[in-house]
Amino acid sequence: MQAPISTPTVHIDLGDRSYPILIAPALLDNPACFASLPAGNTALIVTNVTVGPLYAQRLQVTLLKQYKAVHVVTLPDGEEHKTWQTLNSIFDALLAHACDRKTVLFALGGGVVGDMTGFAAASYMRGVPFVQVPTTLLSQVDSSVGGKTGINHPLGKNMVGAFYQPLLVVCDLDTLKTLPARELSAGLAEVIKYGPIADLVFLDWIEANMDALLQRDVPALAYAIQRSCEIKAWVVGQDERESGLRAILNFGHTFGHAIEAGMGYGKWLHGEAVGCGMVMAAELSRELGLVDTAFVQRLRTLVQRAGLPVIGPRLDADDNAGRYLDLMRVDKKAEGGEIRFVVIDGPSHATLRAAPDALVRRVVDACCA
Ligand code: NAD
Ligand code: GLY
Repeated sequence: MQAPISTPTVHIDLGDRSYPILIAPALLDNPACFASLPAGNTALIVTNVTVGPLYAQRLQVTLLKQYKAVHVVTLPDGEEHKTWQTLNSIFDALLAHACDRKTVLFALGGGVVGDMTGFAAASYMRGVPFVQVPTTLLSQVDSSVGGKTGINHPLGKNMVGAFYQPLLVVCDLDTLKTLPARELSAGLAEVIKYGPIADLVFLDWIEANMDALLQRDVPALAYAIQRSCEIKAWVVGQDERESGLRAILNFGHTFGHAIEAGMGYGKWLHGEAVGCGMVMAAELSRELGLVDTAFVQRLRTLVQRAGLPVIGPRLDADDNAGRYLDLMRVDKKAEGGEIRFVVIDGPSHATLRAAPDALVRRVVDACCA
């Protein structure tokens, strides 16, 4: 699909499931952004109680130029609501409005709304089209791109879901103006991630521009989003369903998911857990002899500068490392009960490795409060 307007665009190249990612200010009000979508009578905007009042009406007005009816369903806000029950409320809305197979779903919000809307689109009538309109930094640099959709299970993060690609991703940079500072920092974790796994020049750039990013300098944010999406597009284009390479995008996520599940979803933000998890994964890489202490310290300093925690929480008063290990055994990358971690094994290079429990325990003990 061609980009309908001359907006900075990154392309995800997946054959007949390819799509553009538009990145610029003032896109929500621009009907041209959506002009290339297939014709249909109905659209459903899925949003939440925080984002809806800020942006849903504007998107609705824009989409009404193209669809006869544009409905809105408003979900509760928070990772703890990324559940079957909330997902079902999207199906309730689709059925209540008699939405047909050509209905287009629009995910207006952060990664939680995006992941759930994508899963609803993958399942409703066995698949209807959907568009990502991400409004957090994290969702603009990562979750809206690549087609991972799903919900959490009390025993494991993102354990139920589907690969299902959107038709289009629209990143309106203006939406980042209302994002709370803590959420901006959380998004920076996923931006930082792309440096060690794929592009040390980008890591240098992030270090040089961290202050500008924290001050929401628009050109700096635009470049960070564009470069992150380019790297993600490069990875997903080679390994859409994570049979190998795509796992590198989970750098820091194995420890991070243990933190999120162990603390109770919503206590630590996903990006906070990933930021701290990257420091732990870097420390594990050092324990495995793959990187030196200076690299771990470089990453720790950058994560800290982004306003993110670098010391892991205690998840169990008696056997903290044992609790981390138990939680990490239900990670999607685990095979036969063996946990596999994304480690850094060279400049701009990451790989999957198993590690002895004793060594993981050492890392957890060294990195936790
Ligand atoms: P989120 O969706 O919970 O959004 C963060 C908070 O910011 C929420 O309270 C939200 O209501 C609010 N918000 C969103 N946009 C706003 C705006 N413009 N102004 C003011 N407030 C706004 O969290 P997130 O960090 O965007 O996403 C995290 C989720 O994404 C996790 O569930 C994670 O598992 C998932 N994720 C998925 C992928 C993927 O590939 N599918 C990748 C990374 C993360
Ligand atoms: N965020 C990890 C992935 O998309 O694969």
